[in-house]
Amino acid sequence: MVKDGEVIIDMFAGVAPFGLVICKRAGPKIVYSIDINPDAEGFVRMNMQLNRVENIVPITGDSAEMIRELPDADRIIMNLPQTADKFLCAALSRTKIGGVVHMHKVIERAETDGLIEKIKKDARSGGFGISVNSVTELKTYSPTMSVYVLDIRRET
Ligand SMILES: C[S@@+](CC[C@H](N)C(=O)[O-])C[C@H]1O[C@@H](n2cnc3c(N)ncnc32)[C@H](O)[C@@H]1O
Repeated sequence: MVKDGEVIIDMFAGVAPFGLVICKRAGPKIVYSIDINPDAEGFVRMNMQLNRVENIVPITGDSAEMIRELPDADRIIMNLPQTADKFLCAALSRTKIGGVVHMHKVIERAETDGLIEKIKKDARSGGFGISVNSVTELKTYSPTMSVYVLDIRRET
């Protein structure tokens, strides 16, 4: 999905598996790779060397705060499946109009529509207009729940 020159923020990046694959297979301008675990940054740097990738910027800290220092992004990745929705407004505050947030979320399979409505309401109360362009089931999580990725476009 990533187009040449995109600015990307990975809010819960771990050792940057998404950033590495994106930099190897596409041509982003830069990937900001945030994780609250201070051990992650050293492994990101090691991964960058091993994979000969230069345009990842590792950042240690709470992404809700660290994201405020960053420029607006074309694409934001939120791979924190239990609680990513709580960070949606922080993500949208740094998403360009027309940009996309990829939110990973554990959802009861019978309740996906309800979650989409809640996300739209949360975004509206933060002053953002969004559309949910796709909801894709990635894997099962329990007998009744799955991990989904929601592609959320910032409209206003
Ligand atoms: C589910 S892991 C995903 C890691 C990576 N994206 C992957 O696929 O391997 C979630 C990561 O989010 C980090 N994390 C949790 N809360 C955070 C926060 N408030 N700010 C930044 N990182 C956070 C954790 O340390 C963990 O590495």
